Amino acid sequence: MGKIKIAVVGVGNCSSALVQSTLYHKENHSGLIHPVVGGYSPSDISVVAAFDIDSRKVGRDLSNAIFAAPNVAQKFCGVPELGTVVVKGPVLDGADGVLKELIKVDQSKEVDVTEYLTRAGCEIVVCLLPTGCTKAAEYYASCAAEAGCAFVNCTPSRIACDERWVDTFEGKSLPLVGDDLMSQIGGTAFHMGLLDLLKQRGVRIDNTYQLDIGGSMEAFGVLEDFRRESKRKVKADAIKQFLPAESEVATGTSDFVEFMKDRRTSYFYIEGNAALGSDVVIDIYLRTVDSSNGAGALLDIIRAVKVALDRRVGGPLISVSAYGFKSPPVCAPLQESQRWFDEFVAGARSI
Ligand SMILES: NC(=O)c1ccc[n+]([C@@H]2O[C@H](COP(=O)([O-])OP(=O)(O)OC[C@H]3O[C@@H](n4cnc5c(N)ncnc54)[C@H](O)[C@@H]3O)[C@@H](O)[C@H]2O)c1
Repeated sequence: MGKIKIAVVGVGNCSSALVQSTLYHKENHSGLIHPVVGGYSPSDISVVAAFDIDSRKVGRDLSNAIFAAPNVAQKFCGVPELGTVVVKGPVLDGADGVLKELIKVDQSKEVDVTEYLTRAGCEIVVCLLPTGCTKAAEYYASCAAEAGCAFVNCTPSRIACDERWVDTFEGKSLPLVGDDLMSQIGGTAFHMGLLDLLKQRGVRIDNTYQLDIGGSMEAFGVLEDFRRESKRKVKADAIKQFLPAESEVATGTSDFVEFMKDRRTSYFYIEGNAALGSDVVIDIYLRTVDSSNGAGALLDIIRAVKVALDRRVGGPLISVSAYGFKSPPVCAPLQESQRWFDEFVAGARSI
């Protein structure tokens, strides 16, 4: 049994890569941002509870459920039986709209989530529900708080930035981080890095876009208007902090192409001016694997939240959220947020 006991809410593609990353990176730390965080290795993370609503996942050992349809995350390594069976949580808004076409809602009775988390000895609840399932995300945040667990909100729903939830977690001295996971080297981190470089070199940025194409359930779901708007707003706000107020910014998943599966292509276009008003144009693309990109960031976040639990630090973790999420309570440029994260883990920052 690992030293960090987590629950995953939503056994989708990102959960699949997260589970596999704890096994794959047991000895091989290549490709990780931080091999060790606060003395913890990726293999110290163990999933003691898993919630979903899809009949192809509920009732199965997590080692099988992570490869069940409609998941498209690839098999990165062998996964032995884990002894954690996926249980049914409440559906709420988890299968609304276009998600009805992809999720086969299991008809069994839902478990009492708070009691289940408590019995499993869970310390950290990682919310990996589809974009736009705000009622379900809030429900799991309340269960986490009742069960005495920290909460990691990977979805764009406002939890870590919402005063109500901040008060709840502060009141119980439990760590809270979010909102909307920033992948290890995904569209937003790459875009922020490019803009930061141009800004440092004095380039005035006039217009920019970042458009994605993917083939996962998440890419399909965000074609729906209200989900697309929520993702777009989070991504655009993250980028706008680097630009003059009058610059035009467009971001957000632009299309679903089924054969792409877990792969994502992100297109970036930036127009600006350097000395003497001369043009600077960047027009490039980045190809990544979506699920592993999310897991790469989550490994750091989960271990830093465990550090907070060890230190009995509760409420919003400003440094961890700025480092690991697109819409944190306090934003910072990439290098600065990475420094905050490292200082927090080293004990030089309190939250
Ligand atoms: N690279 C990444 O993976 C990445 C990056 C940034 C943000 N995120 C965010 O992480 C979240 C998860 O992404 P994903 O690609 O793994 O999603 P996914 O669509 O592959 O998985 C979501 C899972 O949630 C389950 N679910 C739906 N309603 C539920 C409910 N009420 N209770 C329990 N389970 C329920 C679905 O059946 C599915 O298994 C999304 O909100 C996404 O925006 C992911």
